Amino acid sequence: MTHQTILVLDFGSQYTQLIARRLRELAVYSEVVPWHEPAGQILARAPAGIILSGGPRSVRDAGAPRCGRAVLEAGVPVLGICYGMQVMTDLLGGQVEAAPHREYGPATVRVAEPRGAVFDGLPASMEVWASHGDLVASAPPGFRVAATSANAPVAAMEDAGRRLYGLLFHPEVAHSPHGAEMLRRFAYVICGCRGDWNIGAYVDEAVAGIRAQVGGGRVICGLSGGVDSTVAALLMHRAVGGRLTCVFVDNGVLRLDEAAQVKRRLAEKYALPVVAVDAAERFLAALAGVTDPEQKRKIIGRVFIEVFDEEAVRLGGFDFLGQGTLYPDVIESVSVIGPSAPIKSHHNVGGLPETMRLTLVEPLRQLFKDEVRALGRAIGLDEEFVARQPFPGPGLAVRVIGEVTRERLDLLRRADAVVVDEMKRQGWYGRLWQSFAVLLPVRSVGVMGDERTYEATIAVRAVESRDGMTADWARLPHDLLATLSARLVNEVPGVNRVVYDVSSKPPSTIEWE
Ligand code: XMP
Repeated sequence: MTHQTILVLDFGSQYTQLIARRLRELAVYSEVVPWHEPAGQILARAPAGIILSGGPRSVRDAGAPRCGRAVLEAGVPVLGICYGMQVMTDLLGGQVEAAPHREYGPATVRVAEPRGAVFDGLPASMEVWASHGDLVASAPPGFRVAATSANAPVAAMEDAGRRLYGLLFHPEVAHSPHGAEMLRRFAYVICGCRGDWNIGAYVDEAVAGIRAQVGGGRVICGLSGGVDSTVAALLMHRAVGGRLTCVFVDNGVLRLDEAAQVKRRLAEKYALPVVAVDAAERFLAALAGVTDPEQKRKIIGRVFIEVFDEEAVRLGGFDFLGQGTLYPDVIESVSVIGPSAPIKSHHNVGGLPETMRLTLVEPLRQLFKDEVRALGRAIGLDEEFVARQPFPGPGLAVRVIGEVTRERLDLLRRADAVVVDEMKRQGWYGRLWQSFAVLLPVRSVGVMGDERTYEATIAVRAVESRDGMTADWARLPHDLLATLSARLVNEVPGVNRVVYDVSSKPPSTIEWE
């Protein structure tokens, strides 16, 4: 590794990856590692600094996750955030107690004088985002209190001599307006980072990482045609060349012309070795009569594994499975240690290795969607491809609400094509995280050319988001909505009503199922 790295020890907070992402935005390479990684292994990577993340547990509980003391004693700068600060406090002889009032949401911290290295140059009083049930009642010996808040006697602490720092609030979230500056100061002033990283460097890093992992083995990878699997496949191709085989499964729930496009674009233009399998019949047969969203997801996941498995056996001799799994896929599908409940089963995470005994290669696992897009650009993927909006693994099956039939899919495909086309024509497609049509299981009465109609309803969903983890419905111009509505009813036979979805995530999700 040629560039400086700050390692983030993950204690299970929803925000852990955001810490790493903020640092990468600051041109400092950062990676997340599980809290139980042995101290020796962590230190062997010679990190420029270490951050202990937040987490859902209480250090006062038996069996609460802790890092080795050696992490704090190696002379490497360490910043504990929220639970991470409590771990640091507990390990070094300070006092962690239950807070009389759980502090959740905005809080104001007052910085103590003299300003420590983290707060230097920042206002004396600042808004921050807090989320903790425990607090630090007294800092460990050797530390001084660097900031306080109404509900926390020690909102920040530091031992500059040992280069140990703690923040009880979350500097990584946007609700802490000066938080990025605190992280910048930790990285540049305390850890001595020079800002020697950019996404282009990640290409070499990822390629080298894949080579080291795969050695002389063979890799099979599923290609969906989306940005994630395409970027992952291109990286793997660069790393292992002809020892990569990509499998594209047409599951019958893709968008209009998608299968043809994927085959043409990826196989021909980027010279990826692609094997295409038409399994539409098989998926649709398995989905017949099913209306429950989780059932649909599980069926598609299962059939995908079967088809993929058969293909792997037929082609033979693979050792690794390459996947374009992103960080948000991981956090919404599994829970590291905490109570964060799985929300939807994302079929592209987990499952495959058990049946196939292949080792996973996931070069994008640390990244967020917009970082993957930047990576795509860095390896020369066309802008048209890079700018594609996300499309869920279970495809149109989770947008046909109710039973998934060929007829209903065909209807939705046409509606979807209209929405995509109009969004592009009016310059909105690239500005939105996603914009798509959903077919509701609701028919309603209309009148067309003096005739009574009793037909289907299309819901239009358009959202803005940075990473898909939260989202807000897009304030589309009324004229655009009017055009969409008219086009959907005129161009898609079987539709006589259009509604616009005005729900945010949370409390809704982006996809309806
Ligand atoms: P939700 O509906 O959970 O979606 O708010 C968040 C983002 O994830 C996409 N999504 C999926 N992506 N496999 C995927 O690769 C899936 O099973 C899946 N389900 C949802 C969704 O389109 C949105 O961008």
